[in-house]
Amino acid sequence: MTNLVEIRPRELKPSLLELDGISRTTIEAHYRLYQGYVSKRNELLGKLAGVDLGAANQVYSEIRALKLDLTFAVGGVKNHEIYFEHLGGQGGDPDGYVAALIERDFGSVDTWRADLRATAMSGRGWAWTAYDWDEGRMFNYLGDAQNTFPVWNATPIVALDVYEHAYFLDYQTDRASYIDAFFRNLDWGVVNGWVEAYRIPRE
Ligand SMILES: [Fe+2]
Repeated sequence: MTNLVEIRPRELKPSLLELDGISRTTIEAHYRLYQGYVSKRNELLGKLAGVDLGAANQVYSEIRALKLDLTFAVGGVKNHEIYFEHLGGQGGDPDGYVAALIERDFGSVDTWRADLRATAMSGRGWAWTAYDWDEGRMFNYLGDAQNTFPVWNATPIVALDVYEHAYFLDYQTDRASYIDAFFRNLDWGVVNGWVEAYRIPRE
């Protein structure tokens, strides 16, 4: 038996409707996809509450299907909550605490940006900058879908969505120009807030 605690979509920040190079139409459609992930997460947990545990089977079973798709829905919720929250800023180079972390772990901001860009160009869904608590350093991770390939005990602080729904309307297949726009709209104040809230160590 799984306890069902429904979650609700976070509000869309008004600043997201006025981004530089990512249209309001794209953001509104993208936000509806996010609402869908939240809704499906709730639906899946509701079904899991009544699932027949005795029928569990690795080839096919209801619990297997529900738990597999739950990772996609929950990934979709978490990834997009980071994405929407840290857009709406002025872009540019990072400042403050996160700038020091990036310089320490990547060597320079330019190296971090080039690596994240290349990771995003080679991914089929996401590129994340995350802090790995076991290694004590940040790394740019690649994702092919909402549920591939997060790494345990690493906390994402930048989430770059490269699913085509994020840019096709504005850039067709020109993903590189969309990535440029993503960097132009990053809100480093939000990212620094997470770095402090998570108490990512400086040393
Ligand atoms: Fe997305």
